[in-house]
Amino acid sequence: MKIDHLGIATKSITESLKFWGDALGLENVHTEVVEEQKVRVAMLPIGESRVELLEPTSDDSPISKFLEKRGGGIHHIAVEVDNIATALQKLKDAGMQLIDETPRVGAEGCLVAFVHPKSANGVLLELVQNINK
Ligand code: CO
Repeated sequence: MKIDHLGIATKSITESLKFWGDALGLENVHTEVVEEQKVRVAMLPIGESRVELLEPTSDDSPISKFLEKRGGGIHHIAVEVDNIATALQKLKDAGMQLIDETPRVGAEGCLVAFVHPKSANGVLLELVQNINK
């Protein structure tokens, strides 16, 4: 396994790129809107991982709620797995609380599923299966 990306919530990707892009020196290689999750994402590779900037596209986006409560910060950590269905079943069998029982389509057409922070020390964990590999 590896850390696929760190999801960071922001009110404005454009504003955030002044830090992560211009000042720190990461490159924004991919931007897209994920309609289902009501977010716009920007992907900035860092080593074998990425920083994923998340900007809400509507007031009822999960990211809007997060920003209201915390004003930004790390929203989730995403771990890449070879087989997301197997990984979900394994967690379920271990009694862990899942947000998504079945995978859905996330950014870049990957299969993703979220594990509840209650089961992961307060961390929202995203499982990612890269189907483009
Ligand atoms: Co993510």
